[in-house]
Amino acid sequence: MSNTSPVITIDGPSGSGKGTIASRLAKLLGFTLLDSGALYRVLGLAADREGLAPGSDSETIAALARRVEIGFGQPNVDSPWVEGSVWLGSDDVSLAIRTDEASAMASQVAAIPAVRAALLQRQRDFLGANGLVADGRDMGTTVFPDAALKVFLTASVEARADRRYKQLIGKGIDAILPALLSELEERDARDTQRSASPLKPAVDAVIIDSTMMSIEQVMAQITDLAREKLDR
Ligand code: C5P
Repeated sequence: MSNTSPVITIDGPSGSGKGTIASRLAKLLGFTLLDSGALYRVLGLAADREGLAPGSDSETIAALARRVEIGFGQPNVDSPWVEGSVWLGSDDVSLAIRTDEASAMASQVAAIPAVRAALLQRQRDFLGANGLVADGRDMGTTVFPDAALKVFLTASVEARADRRYKQLIGKGIDAILPALLSELEERDARDTQRSASPLKPAVDAVIIDSTMMSIEQVMAQITDLAREKLDR
């Protein structure tokens, strides 16, 4: 990687709050945001739309990963897309990629090593002239091993299920807490036990357990760390 723009990675399990933190931090610092989970989600959706079942030939899904057109509305740049929106070609899939089915499809395609290899350079290409905040599972371990700051944000599975439950109920969507808990446990197991880039903290990551913290407290701690590391 010859680009010397700073990178901050935020990895962690589903529901740890890393997406919210990454997007706030990118906005605050004027950096580009890479929501790498959204890449896997769009790919899972594209595979499904092309009739490729999760058990399809890995190379066929990897070929799709290389050619699929994915667009993000960025917080800090003039973009044709609304901030935070995600596109599959000319189709706004911002909501479609957040369903439970899409989450499951994402973690299934993400377990295929050839898919991860196909998306590696595409993820690195997000690093432009300003700087990058990248959130996901393997940002600090595999995609940006030289990042200036690596955070591993975690929380107990109960706290994460509870947050998701409140979020859904708040949006008027029916939810069953025990079902959410077991879905999270299933996804955690798939993400931590796969052979390609499993979910684990980088050796030089700062581990933050947000079980008993508010999003504002987590944000304050990470902002301090970022200012310290980036010297600004
Ligand atoms: O972060 P998010 O929940 O949107 O990610 C969806 C799925 O994509 C995860 O469950 C995981 O399987 C996969 N993923 C991954 N590596 C990343 C980001 C996401 O394997 N860097």
